[in-house]
Amino acid sequence: MKSRILIKDKIKSFNKKIAVTSDKSISIRSVLLASQAIGVSKIFNLLESEDVLNTLKCIKKLGINYKKFNSHYKFYGFGLKGYNTKKNIVLDAGNSGTLARLILGILVDSEKSIKIVGDKSLSKRDFSRITEPLKMFGANILSKKRKLPVLISGSTFLRPIIYEEKLGSAQCKSAVMLAALKAPGITKIKAKKSRNHTEIFFKNLNIPIKVINKKKYDLIEIEGESNFNGFNYTVPGDISSCSFFLVLTILSKDSRLTIKNVNINSTRTGVIKILKKMNAKILYKNKKYYKGEAVADIYVESSNNIKSIKCPSSLNSSAIDEFLIIFLVAAKAKGISTFKSLGELNMKESPRLNIAIKILRKIGVKVLRVENDIKIFGQPNLNLKGNYEIKNFRKDHRVFMMTSIAGLTLGGNWKIYDTDSVKTSFPTFFKILNQLGAKVN
Ligand code: S3P
Repeated sequence: MKSRILIKDKIKSFNKKIAVTSDKSISIRSVLLASQAIGVSKIFNLLESEDVLNTLKCIKKLGINYKKFNSHYKFYGFGLKGYNTKKNIVLDAGNSGTLARLILGILVDSEKSIKIVGDKSLSKRDFSRITEPLKMFGANILSKKRKLPVLISGSTFLRPIIYEEKLGSAQCKSAVMLAALKAPGITKIKAKKSRNHTEIFFKNLNIPIKVINKKKYDLIEIEGESNFNGFNYTVPGDISSCSFFLVLTILSKDSRLTIKNVNINSTRTGVIKILKKMNAKILYKNKKYYKGEAVADIYVESSNNIKSIKCPSSLNSSAIDEFLIIFLVAAKAKGISTFKSLGELNMKESPRLNIAIKILRKIGVKVLRVENDIKIFGQPNLNLKGNYEIKNFRKDHRVFMMTSIAGLTLGGNWKIYDTDSVKTSFPTFFKILNQLGAKVN
């Protein structure tokens, strides 16, 4: 793969059916849970992206065997206390905040001390948000300046905790939920709304969990020391990956696209709600439920009548990974769009709020920022002619994909570096672009 791509032409109109790769959040959770189950688990459609491959490497280092078959991966778990760890091991989470944080939750009872490291981008991210609650359980944790590397040695005298998750971070909530499985008694969590795949998985596995959904937060209770059996699971398509193709279609001329079998859990569909409010035509077809997760085919078509949005911050957490691509639609909308309280965007693989503003300004779109609120001044006739070079974005996969879609829909000559970044979440990104007729060199 070349280290950079060139885009010189807008994509021509298309009318196609595609499937995006499987959901990253659910893939990582399914592997980690299979590694803690008693007996055999089979996972079908597992996302084979770098974040998930790193998850596989980590559980292997923790003594869990798995085999890859044509259609699935098979895992052999020994229950909640089933890791068999050598001394002084180092787990490399690569680029994945989800893996690093969730596995720390599982290691809350580790008898040996284990070091978690990550790549340059992950090593710049805050870990105190998860080490603090894990210390409350009784784990011993060392980390410098709240960042990786984190050294954890668990406790054999864990206690359940009462914890308030205030950031709306599913990674923090899920790490605490996984740690709660190890502590005797009932852990109580009050969590600001965020994706609920872990809660749904726990229910499926008959883990004693109670969830009460309030308007702005959820109350979760988990009874610890509850082993669960191996399971079979088929991972649905990823709405975050899908969103790049939704926007590609919306901003292209006379195009239609159906994306098959996408997870449309309402804690993830902020992007659909926002794009629909902006006048995009998006429909769900063949909606069904699979083990508590809603799944559908998503139909989308071009729109030359995009309007601005006053985005309610109540949608922030359910669209948290999609704002970059949503901003691109706002850049082409009629009117001024406002987005509020987006501080969490700067805590991602790159400081996404800062980077998005820079990119929008680079392409001549006016953006006003007051703290973490922004206004984007849309230009329905935005048609780029210049040269645009995109680099130094901490190899953030979503920045790479957002700028590729900008190049394919807005015009101009684009040179985008760090092509490999797509492997983090969406290894078939270029293959699908190719299927749709995009020219990317
Ligand atoms: C994720 C949660 C979100 C999201 C990330 C995946 C998860 O992060 O941005 O891509 O799988 O739990 P936060 O929990 O930090 O908001």
